[in-house]
Formats: sequence, C-alpha cells, structure tokens
Amino acid sequence: MKLLITLILMITLYSKCNATETWKCIKSGGRCTTNGGDICPNGEFCKSNGKQLYDSSGNELPSGICSPLIKEGEPCYLYQRCEYGLLCKVPPTQFPGEEYSVEGVCISSKYLSVGENCTSDSECLGRLECKGNICTPENSEIGNQCYLDEDCPSQNYCNWSTSLNNCEPLKKISDACLNDNQCSLGLICRNDKCIEMFSLKIGEPCQTREDCESLNCNYNLLDSGERNVTTINNGFYCQVKELNTDDCKKDGCKGSYEICDSKSNKCLNSNPINSKKCSSATKLRDNCYIKNKCSLRNHFNVEQRNKKSCQIKNCQSEINEYLKECILETVYCQ
Ligand SMILES: *[C@@H]1O[C@H](CO)[C@@H](O)[C@H](O)[C@H]1NC(C)=O
Ligand SMILES: *[C@@H]1O[C@H](CO)[C@@H](O)[C@H](O)[C@H]1NC(C)=O
Ligand SMILES: *[C@@H]1O[C@H](CO)[C@@H](O)[C@H](O)[C@H]1NC(C)=O
Repeated sequence: MKLLITLILMITLYSKCNATETWKCIKSGGRCTTNGGDICPNGEFCKSNGKQLYDSSGNELPSGICSPLIKEGEPCYLYQRCEYGLLCKVPPTQFPGEEYSVEGVCISSKYLSVGENCTSDSECLGRLECKGNICTPENSEIGNQCYLDEDCPSQNYCNWSTSLNNCEPLKKISDACLNDNQCSLGLICRNDKCIEMFSLKIGEPCQTREDCESLNCNYNLLDSGERNVTTINNGFYCQVKELNTDDCKKDGCKGSYEICDSKSNKCLNSNPINSKKCSSATKLRDNCYIKNKCSLRNHFNVEQRNKKSCQIKNCQSEINEYLKECILETVYCQ
C-alpha cells in the first residue's frame, strides 16, 4: 500500500516537472491552483474544493484556497496535507477511488528508533515492532540484525548478505560503496565510491542534478542543438547551466527544475537546495542528527518533524534554520 501511494505521488510529481510552470506566492486565504506552481505560505497548502476547473485552452483555473495544514485527528483526503509530523492514514477499504473521495484521518507518524522504549508498534519507526517495550526489528529471533536500514542504530545501514544480515557503520568520503544508503548523510555513491553531493564537475557522468556542482545533469548538447541521447553512462553528464531568456512568461525556462517567477519573469530554481546558505544549514542540521544519534534517512516532513522525534527534541533550531534557507515558501515568498 505504502509503495502504491509513493508510486502515485512520484508519478504526479514527475509529470508536474515537464513544462515550465509560472509560479506565484499566494497569501493565506488566497485562491490557488492545486496542481500548479502556486505556493501557499509555510504551514499551509492549497486545499481543493474537490473540483478541477479548466479554461477554454485547457489551462487549470484556481480551484482551491491556501489553508492551514490539517490537524491531528481531522479528516484528510489522499492528496491533502496533514501538519508536519503527521500522515494521512487511509483505510484499505477506500482503495481504489477518486482523488478526493479517498478519505482518511491525520495521525501521528512513527518516531522511535531501534532500541528505544515504546508502548505500542505505532510508535516504532518503519517496520520495527514494540517487543518487551523496546522497538525491535521484525523477526529478529532468526538471528538477522536487520532487514532494512531503519532496523539499525543511527549512522548504520543494513548489510544484506547470504548468511545473516548485519548492521554496519555508514561509509565516509572516498570509501567503497554499492548504494547511496551505505554512505554517510550528505554523501552519495557514484562509481562505487562515497562522494559529496553537488561535487561533480562539468563533463563528468552523473545520475541526478544533485550530483553536479552546476545542478544540471543531462544528455550532452550537440552543435545541432539536439541532445546526444546515448546509452553510455546512461548518457548523462554534468552540464553548464543553460541560460534562460529574460522573459520566461513568454519563452519558458530551459532548466528542467526551474520555475518562472510571475513577479520578475525570471527563472528560479524550484528547490534552493544547493545555495551556499542552504547547504551549510543542511550540514548543521545533519550534524545535529548525528550527534544526537537520531535516525537519519526517514521523511523530513513526516517522521523527522514529529513533535516527539529525536530530531525535533534535539535539533529544533537547526531545523528552523534549514527551513528558512532551503524551502521555496520561505526563501522566495517571505
Ligand atoms: C527504558 O526502560 C528501561 C526499563 O524499564 C529503563 O531502565 C530506562 O530508563 C528507560 N529509558 C528511557 C530513555 O526512558
Ligand atoms: C557484509 O556482511 C558480510 C557477511 O557477514 C561480510 O562478509 C561483508 O564484509 C559485509 N560487508 C561490508 C561492506 O561490511
Ligand atoms: C554521443 O555520446 C557518446 C558517448 O559519450 C559519444 O561516443 C558519441 O560520439 C556522441 N555522439 C556525437 C554525435 O557526438
């Protein structure tokens, strides 16, 4: 079920990234489009009235109101957003259904990691079970230390092996690795080595834009203006950031993750992730998680922002600084 929801969300998010969106800051209580580039204030979302409206050329019209995120215990629809630290729990009987007919309720996310004292399964992260009042990996009696990374203590990952799975410390910069999850926070696994995010130079093979200093990972541009679509290295290389025109309302944005700011008509990065201020705020936040032995790779807006989580209890000010520097709502709209 979780996988299905993730898949649906991924498809929705992905399909939204293709065309250039004109993006606007909307005030609290203002009309907004639920699937467009409208950004409600921090702590709010575009609450749909349940209808999708289009004009004669097929453009979506405002169909919602910027409203506060939904509180614990209150009803939520599948694509609506609960307050940070909560999730919309939908009973299985509601599937499949129309977007705004699948109704659930906002409940507390899980927040305790392996080894912490608990009173019920619903408190323990992921698939951990509350056994003898301690959050414990499922089927731990078989001898495996783990099945998933969340079964391991902070700064460890689950090493799958043919005999028994065991927890191993995360790898440091330049260490050998097979996957991103084996590298410490802020690092990614490329060419079998842990490297820093945003560290690859122009011309180096890449997988996502987060690999590249220039934040542009694509097929090479040929003299003809076409892209060289090849299967070597998946064909993707770090590129010079493409220059946009001065009027993106007219010509759109060239970068696939850019949005057209309706105020300035300039293209902006839709996610200010590699600004200097954001990357240093991210490092401070991550170091605080590590220092306090919090679990590292669960969802930022859900598990990590649960009021009772290790992250909020120990790193609230670092999280506030991260939010100030790294999210659209605060970087561009306030
Ligand atoms: C967890 O429970 C044990 C046994 O009841 C107790 O000794 C310990 O202090 C508790 N730890 C925390 C952090 O509450
Ligand atoms: C993973 O576990 C296997 C079996 O215990 C071990 O041989 C291997 O070295 C471990 N891998 C790493 C990267 O620690
Ligand atoms: C396309 O890229 C591949 C791999 O980098 C390269 O071998 C090939 O020559 C390129 N094609 C053109 C037309 O530049």
